[in-house]
Amino acid sequence: MNARLTALSDPSLAPGEARCPGPSTADIIGAETDQPPAALTEQSYHFLGDSDLPFARYTSRSFFDAEIEKLWSKTWQWACRVEHLQRPGDYFVYDVGPYSAMIVRGADEEIRAFVNSCPHRGMQFFDAGSKGSGKQFFRCPFHGMSWHLDGALREIPCRWDFPHVNDADFGLTELPCDTWEGFVFVSFDPDAGSLADYLGVLPRHFDEFAYPLRDRYVWLHMKKVLPGNWKMCMEGFLEAYHVLATHPEGLRTAGDANAQYDFWGDHVNRFVHTVGYPSPHLPKQLTEEELFASLGHDPQTLPPGKGARQAHAELQREAMGRQLGVDLSMVSNSQMLDSIEYYLFPNACFFPGIGIPLIYRFRPIDVDHCIHEILMLRPKPANSSVPPPAEVIELDMDTSYKTVPAFAATGLAHVLDQDTENFFRQRAGMKASRKAGQTLGNYQEARIRHVHRTLDKYLNR
Ligand code: FES
Ligand SMILES: [Fe+2]
Repeated sequence: MNARLTALSDPSLAPGEARCPGPSTADIIGAETDQPPAALTEQSYHFLGDSDLPFARYTSRSFFDAEIEKLWSKTWQWACRVEHLQRPGDYFVYDVGPYSAMIVRGADEEIRAFVNSCPHRGMQFFDAGSKGSGKQFFRCPFHGMSWHLDGALREIPCRWDFPHVNDADFGLTELPCDTWEGFVFVSFDPDAGSLADYLGVLPRHFDEFAYPLRDRYVWLHMKKVLPGNWKMCMEGFLEAYHVLATHPEGLRTAGDANAQYDFWGDHVNRFVHTVGYPSPHLPKQLTEEELFASLGHDPQTLPPGKGARQAHAELQREAMGRQLGVDLSMVSNSQMLDSIEYYLFPNACFFPGIGIPLIYRFRPIDVDHCIHEILMLRPKPANSSVPPPAEVIELDMDTSYKTVPAFAATGLAHVLDQDTENFFRQRAGMKASRKAGQTLGNYQEARIRHVHRTLDKYLNR
C-alpha cells in the first residue's frame, strides 16, 4: 500500500480540498499529445457537506413510497432508443413503479408517449416491458375501444351507450416525450419542463466526443434484478473508491484514487477514471514496460520513447477500428480507454467512451430490489448495414454476467459480477447497522451526496 495514501489529511486544507497525492486525472489527460475534448478537462466540484447519510433512505418503506410519489412521477427518464421505433406503428412500453407509458411512432413519423391505461375502465393496452410493431391503432383488449396512433379516439363499440362521452375529450393521455442522442425520454409529469433544460451540460459535453451516441447502435442489452434498493445499487457504480478492495486485479492498470469527480446543476454528475495508468495505491511505480505488460502486451514490443498508455491506445484504436468497421483515428486516448461515466438524475449513466461504451439504468421494484440494465452502444459500421437493437438478455439475481459470451469477451463481466455480489451484503449490513447512516468521503463519494441533495429537492417540493 502506498503510505502517502494512508497519511492523515492535511489540516490546513478546507473540507473537500484534499486530493490523492500524485498526478491527477486532469494531469494525465492534459499531458497527452492528442487533443482530448475540452469537456474532459473541465472540472466542477465543490464541497457538499460531510454529515452521515441515513440508512433509512435505503431501507424505509415510507421513504421508498415518497420517492415513488414525488420523484419517479416528476423526472425525465429515458425509455428506449429511437431505433426501437423505426417505423410508424412501432411501440415500446416503459414502466417504473406504478407508472407506465407506451411510446409510439405515429403515421406522421412523430414519436409520442401515452399513459398505458385505457380511458374506459383502466385496462393496460400492453404488458410492462413489451414492444411491438405494425400497429395501425391501439385497441383495448377488454371491450375493444380504440384510439389512433396520435391518441385521438377512433371507435367506441356500442357508441349509442356513451352519449355523455365527447370524442374530443376522450383521447389517450399524452405524456411529455423528447429525444436526445438517440434516446427517447418520457416524463410522467404533464408539467415537466423541457428535456433540454433538464439535461444541463450533457448535450454540450457529448457534442464534443467522437462517435456521438446518436451514431451508435445497441450492440448488447442485459437486464438483471439486483438485491438492493435502487440507490444503493446505483451508487456502487458512482465511485472508484471501491476498486481497491472490490476489483484489486485492476490496480496495475487503472487510476482509482486519483479519479476525477464533477457535478453540474441538479441532474448531472460524472467521473473520469483512467485506464492504462497505474493506481496510486501501488507501493511502487511500475516501469512503462511493466505497465505495458499489465495491459496485455509483450513488453519487448513497446516502441522506444513511447509511454505504455499511448502505445496501448494506439493498438486499441487500430484493433477496435478493424473489429467495429469504423475509423477511430480521431478518437482521443481518453475516450478510447478511460471509464468516463456521466450520470443523469435519477437513474441513468451514459459512457461516451469507445473502449467502455456502457449505458446503465436502475429502476426500483420495491425498497429492497431494483432492475439494473446494462447496454453497450457501438459506433455504426461505416460500410455495412446497422444491426437492429439487441434483444434484452435477462439474468437471474444469482446468474453471472460471464454466462453472456459477448459481455464476457469485453472483459467487463467479472467486474460487474464483483460489483453485484457486494449488494447482498451491503443490503443486509445497512439493515443490521446500529449507526444512523453511512459516512462518505468528501471527494470520491461526492456524486452520492449530489444524488441525495437533488433527491431531497424533489421530496421537499
Ligand atoms: S377497459 Fe378498455 S375498452 Fe373497456
Ligand atoms: Fe465496480
